[in-house]
Amino acid sequence: MVQPYKHEPFTDFSVESNKQSYLKGLEKVESYLGKDYELVIGGERITTEDKIVSVNPADKEEVIGRVSKADRELAEKAMQAADEAFKTWKKTKPEVRADVLFRAAAIIRRRKDEFSALLTKEAGKPWNEADADTAEAIDFLEFYARQMLKLKDGIPVQSRPNEFNRFNYIPLGIGIIISPWNFPFAIMAGTTVAAIVTGNTVLLKPASTTPVVAAKFVEVMEEAGLPKGVLNFVPGSGAEVGDYLVDHPRTRFISFTGSRDVGVRINERASKVNEGQIWLKRVIAEMGGKDTIVVDKEADLELAAQSIVKSAFGFSGQKCSACSRAVIVEDVYDQVLERAVELTKDLTIGNPVDTSNFMGPVIDNNAFNKIMEYIEIGKQEGRLAAGGEGDNSKGFFVQPTIIADVDPKARVMQEEIFGPVVAFAKARDFDHAIEIANNTEYGLTGAVITNNRTNLEKAREDFHVGNLYFNRGCTGAIVGYQPFGGFNMSGTDSKAGGPDYLALHMQGKTTSEAY
Ligand code: NAD
Ligand code: ALA
Repeated sequence: MVQPYKHEPFTDFSVESNKQSYLKGLEKVESYLGKDYELVIGGERITTEDKIVSVNPADKEEVIGRVSKADRELAEKAMQAADEAFKTWKKTKPEVRADVLFRAAAIIRRRKDEFSALLTKEAGKPWNEADADTAEAIDFLEFYARQMLKLKDGIPVQSRPNEFNRFNYIPLGIGIIISPWNFPFAIMAGTTVAAIVTGNTVLLKPASTTPVVAAKFVEVMEEAGLPKGVLNFVPGSGAEVGDYLVDHPRTRFISFTGSRDVGVRINERASKVNEGQIWLKRVIAEMGGKDTIVVDKEADLELAAQSIVKSAFGFSGQKCSACSRAVIVEDVYDQVLERAVELTKDLTIGNPVDTSNFMGPVIDNNAFNKIMEYIEIGKQEGRLAAGGEGDNSKGFFVQPTIIADVDPKARVMQEEIFGPVVAFAKARDFDHAIEIANNTEYGLTGAVITNNRTNLEKAREDFHVGNLYFNRGCTGAIVGYQPFGGFNMSGTDSKAGGPDYLALHMQGKTTSEAY
């Protein structure tokens, strides 16, 4: 019998053996830096002249790997391979499909430190953040495999005398998986395997800044026994390959995680029925966030400041769940701000290979420039209370930054910056704080710090976000424990790591037999 699901524990790096093991992982990654990676189409490895060069954001001279790049012709070849493989994969027993995921989880668990070290190098993740990303990838594999086993015989429905009704889920077809760089392992792997375990075949287009970890994951899935053509690896330009795949008449669904603008574009394009297309495409989209921590006057103010700082600056604020707005009831505003500034000034920033650094770089020069522009906007809209400087000479480093005293409608309170910048705004009272928290077009995560039970219940009803946390920070959802996904412009209300997620990748078929 399959053991009950439990999330993968995080590694305690204060234990010397764990530290040594991670350093060994780093050595392993260093042994293959700069290598070439091919596309994988129908199991065939294809090299192209044109390459995506993945670099270390903490040290831009260091090349992590060179990854072949799909064009439209190769994307078409991959569609055909996925179409062919679907004929047999859709008929493969769910137990067999789940077994591939269980085996892949075991392989990754054995190579956990190597994968985490690769995330440190390719995405600039500090050790604990990299470890959490790898743990989440393992969790998705373990959780979705079990979910499929639960759904394999369908869901019971009523029957009447001389009639037997059944309701079963069947796969959809070819899925296009488009993943972001900020959880380059967990989200890339999670969205891919959710589609695969439900009997679909996929084309995976990872983010162009983090394609190497995706290439390594494809190798793991092959080693775990996934048949050729089920998972086709097609890194490439979002605009060229992305649009082509989204528009393709054989595409049955798109599972996208990324920014609001790209998500909206995909949703619009997918809604058009192209020649030869005989279905309406399904879109599962997880998009941006502008996430708020609300602090009430009756609250543990130290907890409030700690939660804001950790949620705002963990992984340099590059989480869709990151706290980018702190809304504080005026009675305690100065105290919380002052303490958050103190904590922020103590944060260390530098190459995340060095475990003493709390914060590493941001992902690339575009992100660096965008964040620095927002800091300038923030200085006009409010008061710079901490940070504000950046240095992109060696890597892309931005100081953790607090902009105080901003208007709730200010741009830094409304637009996703996706970097280590948090804006502080004052609220008259708790109701006003919730009103401000809800005044964006997003609705992903939020947190409330209060000891007032009535206010917690008010927030439970009125704070409109997909993931709402009480008396803690607003990041760090765990697969199977806190299903993750947001409302409004944060996506299509889907919940990764939740009980109904797999059903989004299937269609329900009713059969009714009369006796
Ligand atoms: P992005 O939108 O720039 O890119 C995401 C993916 O889309 C990449 O693979 C990219 O190559 C691809 N893409 C770009 N243009 C495309 C097109 N025209 N057609 C098809 N694909 C295209 O996002 P990003 O910078 O990689 O990630 C950061 C964003 O992701 C943030 O907005 C963050 O909030 C969001 N995010 C959301 C969640 C969530 O669960 N809601 C999780 C992680 C990240
Ligand atoms: N699942 C990630 C978090 O909750 C994005 O922080």
